[in-house]
Amino acid sequence: MKRSLNYLHVAIALGIAACAMDAARADEAHAVKLYNTYCVQCHGVNRDGNGINSANMAVKPRDHTDTKAMGDTPDETLFKAIKGGGLAVSKSVLMPKWEGVLSDDEIKELVAYLRVVSKTTAK
Ligand code: HEC
Repeated sequence: MKRSLNYLHVAIALGIAACAMDAARADEAHAVKLYNTYCVQCHGVNRDGNGINSANMAVKPRDHTDTKAMGDTPDETLFKAIKGGGLAVSKSVLMPKWEGVLSDDEIKELVAYLRVVSKTTAK
């Protein structure tokens, strides 16, 4: 009886872990959709700052695959830059603000996605 209860606990724990992983995957899939809608024209299909608009821009969009630069940028700064635009973090106004277009939760999803793209960890 005790043993079968232990198995039950393990099964429940695995179930919960699987759900958490599904939720993380769903958030990432949503972030990819957001990025491909709102960010790609500047930051590029390869996420490297070479979007279709970038050739004519005085300030080059950030290369989101740049592990060094992205690794040096805290989550809070990424969040602020996306929400309030370049000016909110003393950067170029050519980085638009997304407040009013994207919810705070969506911006958080994008920050997490940028960590995947840049192969960096949250800081
Ligand atoms: C109209 C072009 C454009 C669009 C669209 C755009 N960006 Fe940017 N972004 C820029 C430019 C230009 C910079 C570089 C600003 C600088 O270095 O002064 C930048 C910089 C950034 C940075 C770095 C900020 C920092 O503090 O270093 C992040 C993060 C970012 N963009 C995320 C996004 C996300 C996410 C989206 C989509 C929701 C997006 N951008 C859409 C042009 C754009």
